[in-house]
Amino acid sequence: MPVARISTFARTDQPVAPSGVKPAPDCTLVIFGAHGDLTKRLLIPALYDLKVSGLLPDRFRIIGVDRAEDTTEGWLAGLTAMMEKFTQDPTAEFYTPKIDETVWSWLSARLSYARIDFTDAAALKEFGGAIDGNVVFYLAVPARFFSPAVEALGRAGLTEEKNGAFRRVVIEKPFGTDLQSARELNSRILAVLKEEQIFRVDHFLGKETVQNILAMRFGNVIFEPIWHRDYIDNIQITAAETVTVESRAAFYEATGALRDMVPNHLFQLLAMVAMEPPASFAPEKVRTAKQTLFESIVPVRPEDVVRGQYAAGTVRGRPVAAYRDSPGVAADSDTETYVAMKLEVRNWRWAGVPFYLRTGKAMSNRIAEIVIEFRLPPLTLFPSADHAHAPPPNRVILNVQPVQGVTICFGAKKPGPEMRLVDVQSRFRYPDFFVREPNVGYETLLYDCLCGDATLFQRADNIETAWAAVEPVLENWQAERTAPELYDAGSAGPRGADELLARDGRKWHPIDGEI
Ligand code: BG6
Repeated sequence: MPVARISTFARTDQPVAPSGVKPAPDCTLVIFGAHGDLTKRLLIPALYDLKVSGLLPDRFRIIGVDRAEDTTEGWLAGLTAMMEKFTQDPTAEFYTPKIDETVWSWLSARLSYARIDFTDAAALKEFGGAIDGNVVFYLAVPARFFSPAVEALGRAGLTEEKNGAFRRVVIEKPFGTDLQSARELNSRILAVLKEEQIFRVDHFLGKETVQNILAMRFGNVIFEPIWHRDYIDNIQITAAETVTVESRAAFYEATGALRDMVPNHLFQLLAMVAMEPPASFAPEKVRTAKQTLFESIVPVRPEDVVRGQYAAGTVRGRPVAAYRDSPGVAADSDTETYVAMKLEVRNWRWAGVPFYLRTGKAMSNRIAEIVIEFRLPPLTLFPSADHAHAPPPNRVILNVQPVQGVTICFGAKKPGPEMRLVDVQSRFRYPDFFVREPNVGYETLLYDCLCGDATLFQRADNIETAWAAVEPVLENWQAERTAPELYDAGSAGPRGADELLARDGRKWHPIDGEI
């Protein structure tokens, strides 16, 4: 992660790298899963953006590998059509009103397709004859192929780093489905690759607002002194989604909200907000600071977890069928589409400060945020304006998405003869300071792995320790087979989640309120 980052929001007309940021080294990017959704929707647009930013080297090749019959021309035609389609849809993850012809032809000239079974070592060996030097293999394939593909690459001799050239493998989520499977996967890929050759992606770390948490905490002096149990009452981490299971039943039925979101995305948010300052911004220092935090998480108690599943309802005016009535979902499915939990981080900074995490599908609003709720002043000198309640506590809200920024809520005197407080907000919003440019959130991740910067990637121990923290819950669910609590699609989640906080005399920050 270079100090001068690729700016998501400011860009010149020329493909010139932001000052201080060099183009990635010469290399070949081999994408396994060339026909997959991730490649089309995110990787190719991210490469386009990197080229626009001047961050790709001239000697760069992209080879799409998949099992389906196709040709370079056919693959390219599909990608070109898809890029064009993005220009028609301002709501698309990647939207640009116009594809820059020069940039696209530069990329097109470097794209090729190879039809190969990427678990077949002999086929890969033959393919390997056509590539040399630095290579990044990107496994944009379903998880069951991760270790077979790495093992085949190893047997084909393609992971060997010779003559100073690097060989790296990027692995997408889900990395295991519990502690044991994550350990097995790590041990199988580590039998082929060195840790520094492996780049385990958690795409939440590609989000500017997530990276900004470290900038905020460790690049300023006003936040960190109060980032502490002496001042903070509780921290709430929310990733609420309006999307339903959509067409992902095969994956989601076996996964559920906890495995899909908690030990990975929500724990990344937790790490950013709770880790100690690293000794430096070097990748290993950051990953070690994160690891220390993960090791301080007390394994979650099943009684501190609420699981929910959406029933029929209306999400933003759209009728939504119950999860159990969705195509591909078992009529008696007990897969959770929502999970809320209380976590304890046992260290000097956080002892006694509860972390409440929640995530769910088919909820009333799409919002990812971290709310840091501070303690009340030691004495209430001023009543609130409505007379009825004590003034609310100060809050710092890290707005991850769709609103991007930071909101600080504090009390101010309501104008008038009386000394009464109202809750007011000071807001930093990205568009007020930066020019918005297309960004799918994979630009930094791709650039960093081409450059060999692992700061934003998971180390083996990070992944295993995160799974270990939720393991008691997975085991308990497996043993007890309790049914999830139903919540209406389009609501803020099951009642049990409110009770989880009410038990501690607290409330969730509303997901529908104005931010
Ligand atoms: C993915 C999960 O990893 O993250 C999805 O599998 C989820 O279920 C998605 O919807 C959320 O990511 P984002 O970036 O859209 O908030």
